[in-house]
Amino acid sequence: MQERKLLDYLYTLNFSVMNFKNISISSSKSIRTIYISRQKQLNALNAQTLEELSMCLGQFLEDKDVRGLIITGEGKKSFVAGADIKEFAKYSSNEGLELSEKGHKTVFDVIYNYPKPIIAAINGYCLGGGLELALACHIRIGSSNALLGLPEVSLGLIPGYGGTQRLPALIGRGRALEMILNGKPITAEQAYEWGLLNHLVDQEDLLDKAQKLAESFSNNSLLAQSHAIAAVNRGLIDPSKGQEEEIKRFGACFQTSDFKEGVGAFLEKRRPDFNNL
Ligand code: CAA
Repeated sequence: MQERKLLDYLYTLNFSVMNFKNISISSSKSIRTIYISRQKQLNALNAQTLEELSMCLGQFLEDKDVRGLIITGEGKKSFVAGADIKEFAKYSSNEGLELSEKGHKTVFDVIYNYPKPIIAAINGYCLGGGLELALACHIRIGSSNALLGLPEVSLGLIPGYGGTQRLPALIGRGRALEMILNGKPITAEQAYEWGLLNHLVDQEDLLDKAQKLAESFSNNSLLAQSHAIAAVNRGLIDPSKGQEEEIKRFGACFQTSDFKEGVGAFLEKRRPDFNNL
């Protein structure tokens, strides 16, 4: 136990040595919490923040001690208030295209397809690229002060980090288009009612709820979870291929040591001990 705490502490130190400017990390058990830390700009996502986020996701992917991630915003007011408007204000059409493409490739698709569970803990403004960040995560928990919206059309833009695809997939075309076309945020209660939030909690309980949920996932086979995420995503991206993907991955599970451990533990009436990815 002491050893685990020390390892977690050293882990956090290692990340501070990496000198991230716009994100910070905390660690508890096998779960890492990534804070978007640009409070003065309501945690808006500029290029550097996305780059740091991308690096950090790469590191955690490799790290066998990490079983799940939480993404949240620093402070009480905002999760993420969108892409950084000041940074792209003078962009040409090509630069806009590159901004969207790079964001998808290096962060948003990476999170969506991440083989370890990622929970968005939404604390306040969750707008534009901020909502798209939350939509890319596997699970969303919101605090009661959260406001969720895609205000891009009020800037003469459309959502560019997955909002036009992932929001309708989650809450249906009609509700998604209502949000996208009027650009107004919805309350946390409304978001919960529409299935945009998995859970709705008081702000002081937000990180605790996210941590507990992430820990509950971490009792199961991470390898099996990664197959499940991939099968679910495949079906959403290409419904004609989803079942095929499920069959293939179901079969693949049978050759893993996690399958032997999980089934063995059931038969021997003990708790399984999974540690593979
Ligand atoms: N980009 C850059 N800066 C932002 C920002 C953003 N998305 N959101 C807030 N800020 C900055 C403000 O400019 C302000 O900075 P200054 O003090 O230097 O002027 C600071 O954060 C605090 O913001 P406000 O004073 O506006 O705070 P408020 O409480 O009065 O309002 C708010 C909060 C309603 C969220 C308002 O800040 C707002 O409307 N923000 C923009 C939201 C938005 O349109 N997001 C979508 C961005 S586009 C996008 O995301 C594209 C995409 O899909 C890829």
